[in-house]
Amino acid sequence: MAEKQVPEHIGIIMDGNGRWAKKRLLPRVMGHSQGAKALDNLLNSAKGLGVKHITVYAFSTENWKRAEDEVSGIMGILREYINKYFREYADSDFRVDSIGDLSRLSPDLQRDIAQLKEASKDKTGIHLTIAMNYGGRDEIKRAVRKIAEEVKAGILQPEDITEELISAHLDSAPTPDPELIIRTSGELRTSNFLIWQGAYAEYYITDKLWPDFTIDDFKLAIDSYCKRDRRFGGRNEEKK
Ligand code: FPP
Repeated sequence: MAEKQVPEHIGIIMDGNGRWAKKRLLPRVMGHSQGAKALDNLLNSAKGLGVKHITVYAFSTENWKRAEDEVSGIMGILREYINKYFREYADSDFRVDSIGDLSRLSPDLQRDIAQLKEASKDKTGIHLTIAMNYGGRDEIKRAVRKIAEEVKAGILQPEDITEELISAHLDSAPTPDPELIIRTSGELRTSNFLIWQGAYAEYYITDKLWPDFTIDDFKLAIDSYCKRDRRFGGRNEEKK
C-alpha cells in the first residue's frame, strides 16, 4: 500500500479533562487549564509536520448545562489563551479562527476573538479553529436558515442547493473537511462535532486523557491514519 499523506485537517475532541483532575483530587477547572496547556504544547510542536488546519472542540452548545463555576472557568481559560495568542501574534505564525455561535459568549470575549482573527488572518502557519458554543446540528441549522433567507430573497433557487452550497454556508467554510478526527479518553462518540464535515473522516480514539496527550500521541494518530485504506464508500481505486 502506498504511503499516505499527512492529513491536511485534523479535528480534536479534547476529552478527559474532568477525569484527569478527579484522579488528582483537583477541581475540574484545573483539568481544563491543564488541557489548554496540552493544546498549546501540541500546537508549538506540530509545526513542520505538514498539518495545515487543526480544529479543537473547546466548548459545546451542550456544555452550558455544566455547573456555573466550571462554565465560567472554561470561559476564563479561553479568554486567557485568546489574549495570550493576541499578545504573541506578531511573533507567531498561527492563524486563529472560530466556529460556533459566538453571540452567546460575553461581549468582551467576542471582541477579543474578533480582534485575534483579524490580527492573525494573513498568517501562514497552522490554522487553528476553536469551536466555541459549537454544535454540529446548530451549525447546520444556522446554515439552513441562511440558505432559506437567500431562497426567500430570490438569490438562490431550491435546485441550487447542493452539498457544496451547504458546506459553503457552514461556519467552517472555506476550510476543507477534516480527514482525521482524534478523540481522547476512550469515548466512542462524535458528540455533535463536525458532523457534516466529518462524514468521511477517519476516527482515532485513544485512552489517553486530553491533558496527558502529547506530540508523540499526535504522531501516532497521524501514523494510524496514514496506514488506513480510505474508500469513501467505493472501492479504493475509486477514491473521491
Ligand atoms: C471535555 O472534557 C473538555 C471540555 C468540555 C473543555 C475543553 C477546553 C479546553 C481544553 C480549553 C481549550 C483552550 C483553548 C485555548 C482552545 P470533560 O470535562 O468532559 O472531561 P471528562 O469527560 O473527564 O469529565
